[in-house]
Amino acid sequence: MKGVILHGGSGTRLRPLTYTDVKQLLPIAGKPISEYALENLMEIGIKEINIVIGSTGGDEVKKYYGDGSRWGVNISYTYQEKPVGIAHAIGLTKEFVQNDKFVVFLGDNYIQEGISKLYENFISQDFDGMLALVHVSNPSQFGIAEVKDGKITKLVEKPKIPASDLAIAGVYFLSSNVFQFIEKLVPSGRGEYEITEAYQNMVDHKLNIGYSVISGWFKDTGTVEDFLDCNRLVLDKMSSKSDINKLRKNVSGRVQIADDAFISDNSRILGPCFIGSGSRIENSYIGPFTSIGNNCKISNTEVDDTIIMDGAEINFSSNFRMRGSLIGPNVKIKTDGKTSNPIKAVLGRDSKLEF
Ligand code: TTP
Repeated sequence: MKGVILHGGSGTRLRPLTYTDVKQLLPIAGKPISEYALENLMEIGIKEINIVIGSTGGDEVKKYYGDGSRWGVNISYTYQEKPVGIAHAIGLTKEFVQNDKFVVFLGDNYIQEGISKLYENFISQDFDGMLALVHVSNPSQFGIAEVKDGKITKLVEKPKIPASDLAIAGVYFLSSNVFQFIEKLVPSGRGEYEITEAYQNMVDHKLNIGYSVISGWFKDTGTVEDFLDCNRLVLDKMSSKSDINKLRKNVSGRVQIADDAFISDNSRILGPCFIGSGSRIENSYIGPFTSIGNNCKISNTEVDDTIIMDGAEINFSSNFRMRGSLIGPNVKIKTDGKTSNPIKAVLGRDSKLEF
């Protein structure tokens, strides 16, 4: 069994961050969202992993994951020149997969319970392909599967009148049989080679295509709201780690704070939250569901429900509060004004804001 993690795509819904950064490397609780996918693959014993990179930030992905030895796995790379669809990206991995079975993870999707149960179902039933499905309350906004007796019968993209509430999650279990179906695809109405269509064609050709329903939560982090939501969910199940925090009187709740992070006595940290290595928090309140990356400087600031990425500097005057924000790497925000409304911002790498 092999693994593939997709790092291509346009990421238009996460602009401006995705003008400069790969969305799958954007951090949730101190590590890239796609590293959770890598961990899920490792949990089921996969050692051979291929990462599909696109035209934005491929070098950063290679720099971060390297040859995989840091995780004890072998990582190779495939380049997708244009983001013309998930099926197209998967098709490019044919040489890597050869005749094996494999699992494809969308690098910006998060599955809380991991994929062990899905994997066991896929292997024990000897499926040619399997989809992970998740019950949703708004099926008209998803690719929806119609199922019968443990088998997929039909897949419909964003149905007006949904026949089920089972949405397709971003992890695809496949055998090398899929490649012949991908090769025959033509672009859909939105100009992409659709993986749902490849599955539908496999169903129509009577291949053994099954499904497994995910019981925990699943998150596609394609939008700012979903990204922050995922951050909340991950922080919420995080356990406290650092012993130093037990000695810090101004820290409460479940927190992970790097041992070399500096928290001034006049600051208050209320978990769940994450603060990375080398960061300095001075005269500030860091509230629940906040992830702060490495080497950030936060002073005179109240913040909650926000992700602040590596190297960002925020220096507010009193009375300022930030929430529901995504602050990109090395952003600098400085103000000495006053406002009673909380600030909500999405700022790309190296942005500067003074008011
Ligand atoms: P999407 O989030 O559906 O598409 P996108 O990344 O282009 O984003 P947006 O709609 O905001 O412009 O992609 C799902 C996942 O698949 C994501 O991890 C990116 C990956 N992907 C590729 O690797 N190659 C592709 O050609 C496409 C379309 C997506």
